Amino acid sequence: MKDVYILAIETSCDETSISIVKNGNEVVALTILTQMDKHAEFGGVVPEIASRMHCENITMVLEDTLKKANMKVDDVDAIAVTYGPGLLGSLLVGVEFAKVLSYVYDKPLIKVNHLIGHIYANKIGEKMTFPSLALVISGGHTELIKMSNDYEFELLGETEDDAIGEAFDKVARVLDLPYPGGPNIENLAKKGKDTYKLPKPVNDNSYNFSYSGLKSSIINLVHNETQRGNEIRKADLACSFQIVAVDELKRKLEIALKNTGIKNVIIAGGVSANKYLRSELDKLCKKYNASLDIPDFIYCTDNAAMIGAAAYPLYLKGDFADLDLNPDPNLDICW
Ligand code: KG4
Ligand code: ZN
Repeated sequence: MKDVYILAIETSCDETSISIVKNGNEVVALTILTQMDKHAEFGGVVPEIASRMHCENITMVLEDTLKKANMKVDDVDAIAVTYGPGLLGSLLVGVEFAKVLSYVYDKPLIKVNHLIGHIYANKIGEKMTFPSLALVISGGHTELIKMSNDYEFELLGETEDDAIGEAFDKVARVLDLPYPGGPNIENLAKKGKDTYKLPKPVNDNSYNFSYSGLKSSIINLVHNETQRGNEIRKADLACSFQIVAVDELKRKLEIALKNTGIKNVIIAGGVSANKYLRSELDKLCKKYNASLDIPDFIYCTDNAAMIGAAAYPLYLKGDFADLDLNPDPNLDICW
């Protein structure tokens, strides 16, 4: 069979990224331009700034990717783009750019769900085995999904309130750590001990997750102690928070491993970059004789290579989008 090259575009949040992916699992070139430093000044992503920066940079990012791959747009077989979920203004830049490339170069257009992209990051350089349980853990999502085959998803559980990454970011903010909070909490936690007794989420045996109680208890604790003039042991608090946050994931994944008997676990999304989380989930999977697939570090957070990987099965099916494609900021995983 002829090799298939997909040019993939990702602009759903604050990374402008373009990649060329061969046969759905080989990254020929990848460029990720992060706007993190700019948003850090404001303590979080400012949507208006994000879309303006995508506009400024996207052509340059394309040039850079083509140069790395030593290819022209004419050489690729299709253009893929993230069309949701994400920030509307950011998604619009990527979607319009992709539509123009598809029209001008007469290439099929493939629309990709960002969350499915995170899952398919696991396919880069490897095979995916089914059935599997996928945990999508990012700034906007905490979802437990059963995958029976390529593009066959069943949502088992999701967050009832905050996403796990959002909890990391908000706790980081109350501890005066810069944005994005996740990596900073992880680094600080390494220097601390688990000395704070934090409430564990009390939600039952369902597959759903909850993080707002944990987050609020930390915000209240910091405010109360500060008002009393007491010192906060930030490293200890980061350590205790991380343990409870990861415990919640472990608890729900364990119920799913027991109930379904599935022996394959995939983790996806920015929070899967967390090393403590990786090692705890690894222990749990070993206990159930299940394999654990985690994308390489660079493919954990937002990047266009995962969009190229997720676009490949759609290319093979001939599942192409029309030029009136519109972003869907609230797109779900099981539609
Ligand atoms: O997938 P992603 O790059 O963007 C979204 O689609 O949301 O995920 C970003 C989230 C942020 O909340 C960030 O704090 C979190 O992933 N994150 C981490 C780590 N690295 C990124 N959370 C915990 N530990 C990390 N090392
Ligand atoms: Zn993401």
